Amino acid sequence: MKEKALLAVSFGTSHEDTRQKTIGAVEQALSDAFGGWQVEAAYTSPTIRRILAGRRQAVPSPEEAMEAMAAQGVRRLLVQPTHLICGEEYDKLCKAVWQREGLFERVQMGQPLLYDLEDYKAVAQAVCEALPVEPEEALVLMGHGTPHPMNAVYPALQYVFQSLGMGHVFLGTVEGWPDGPDVVARVQAAGYRKAALAPLMLVAGDHAKNDMAGPEPDSWKSLLEGAGLPVRCILQGLGELEAIQQMYVEHARRALAAWQD
Ligand code: CO
Repeated sequence: MKEKALLAVSFGTSHEDTRQKTIGAVEQALSDAFGGWQVEAAYTSPTIRRILAGRRQAVPSPEEAMEAMAAQGVRRLLVQPTHLICGEEYDKLCKAVWQREGLFERVQMGQPLLYDLEDYKAVAQAVCEALPVEPEEALVLMGHGTPHPMNAVYPALQYVFQSLGMGHVFLGTVEGWPDGPDVVARVQAAGYRKAALAPLMLVAGDHAKNDMAGPEPDSWKSLLEGAGLPVRCILQGLGELEAIQQMYVEHARRALAAWQD
């Protein structure tokens, strides 16, 4: 074990088809960028950790990972979450990390993907470049959404798409505001004839496969089709995009720069 360690913390996913391409790719990008650092992974979701442990693919919780690292002699710890916003999951992680700060000489935490306005612009650009549309086709993005006040990131990001000339992008959330019916109504009112549908989430897991692209009458695919729009589903998590992977690397570097003052 090296003295300096970077812990990449994700919510986690049990969907193996997307896990390596998204979370695994972000972890790899961090590992490539931080030569000389021990890079470890942790997942916050107890359900997902239980499922993975049952498949002999155990991933530790952040608490377990920190305690193991401290016991193995790590002195300086940089925690980089792969979360999208400073929401509930991020708050919980901060609490867990700062409670264990005393186990190390220095602890620093990186920011999630969508932290400041520059992040919003960079994510908007990366998404639009990765998901080109056809004429008369809207790009409908499903974010996660949350009852946490940071749900405000989603309408703010919608405004950024608009202001950068990406008016064909419509962003909603599955668990927050604006919701699916709201987004479909806006796409219809804007006169689009068809829609490309993709998750604005790190992984294309359960929400993307079911709430977004599933056959149930309340999936976003069904809502759009019900509004008369043919739908093209893109089951690709943000973590698959190199530009997004590099944003996490940048956020980790930013945290480290603050550390070295
Ligand atoms: Co969820």
